[in-house]
Amino acid sequence: MKIAFFDTKNYDVAGFEEYGGKHGMKFKFYETKLNADTADLAKGCEAVCVFVNDTVDAAVIDRLCELGVRIIALRCAGYNNVDIAYAKDRITVVRVPAYSPYAVAEHAMALLLTSIRRIHKAYIRTRDFNFSLNGLTGFDLHGKTVGVVGTGKIGRIFIDICRGFGMKIIAYDKFPAKDSGIDYVELDELFNRSDIISFHCPLTEDTYHLISHETVGQLKKGVVLLNTSRGALIDAEALLEGIKSRQIGAACLDVYEEEGDVFFNDFSGHIIADDVLARLISMPNVIVTSHQAFLTEEALNNIAETTVANLLAFSNGEKSGNELN
Ligand code: NAI
Repeated sequence: MKIAFFDTKNYDVAGFEEYGGKHGMKFKFYETKLNADTADLAKGCEAVCVFVNDTVDAAVIDRLCELGVRIIALRCAGYNNVDIAYAKDRITVVRVPAYSPYAVAEHAMALLLTSIRRIHKAYIRTRDFNFSLNGLTGFDLHGKTVGVVGTGKIGRIFIDICRGFGMKIIAYDKFPAKDSGIDYVELDELFNRSDIISFHCPLTEDTYHLISHETVGQLKKGVVLLNTSRGALIDAEALLEGIKSRQIGAACLDVYEEEGDVFFNDFSGHIIADDVLARLISMPNVIVTSHQAFLTEEALNNIAETTVANLLAFSNGEKSGNELN
């Protein structure tokens, strides 16, 4: 099987060559993202392998089908960038539903601790031999209320981590997990009561702009927002306003609404066109990582292994269980 691999980073290559090579798979690694302009690169391939910021809309699906591509293998869990309804009956779409929920949950906690204990500021200071503590006062997590939106694989692990810190946990999920012992509340109440809110739900029509100009006012003053899920859960302009008005005390973002144009690329030395992102990054109480939460050795191995297994099942006419249509 020949596979056109889009949005390739050097950390992707070794695992895919190792697992795919064992089964005679040949990868054509492209740095560019998949979109209507680049779809033709899949010519001669039976499969494409894509990530979170590739565009898999109707036009791309049509072109891939014309080229003879039969399967789109997402090497990620979220699939909001794929027109699944359009792909139905046209092309198979598979994903990696879980590769390391620990990686993401642990990154969320890493961001939270960095933010509230000012580690990012302290690191820069001591490297410059500045040992002053002025402005580095944090707060204890113990006893604080954390609101978790989405209690699936990642949300549940994040809850366990928070329990270890002695935090009070409340949660909202459209489909609450029965008998989980989790204290579920309505979203309004979660917004109202939480000192910290962490998002672990998928991006859907229901969850688009959960944090918006309308809902910022419902948040507890000084709340810390953590988003390691999908950028568009938060209206970035509303977030900026909330930070400027001091309603939002801090934000830790591993994802950003318009990240597709920026994340995974080196723009140091360039002038960023996205004013909202530039302004957010300039804030002392905002930390941005560029969709890095998944990036552990364990997760990369699982991604490569599961994607290769998905492709193998397809080429053998079997179901992997990871089909989206
Ligand atoms: P999951 O499918 O195990 O859990 C998602 C939870 O969200 C489920 O409990 C579901 O009932 C709930 N949910 C669905 N609709 C909802 C709604 N309208 N309101 C509230 N909750 C709702 O997914 P998992 O593995 O825990 O991943 C969560 C999200 O994390 C993914 O959708 C993905 O967007 C993101 N993610 C981010 C990564 C990163 O590197 N930053 C890596 C992997 C996933």
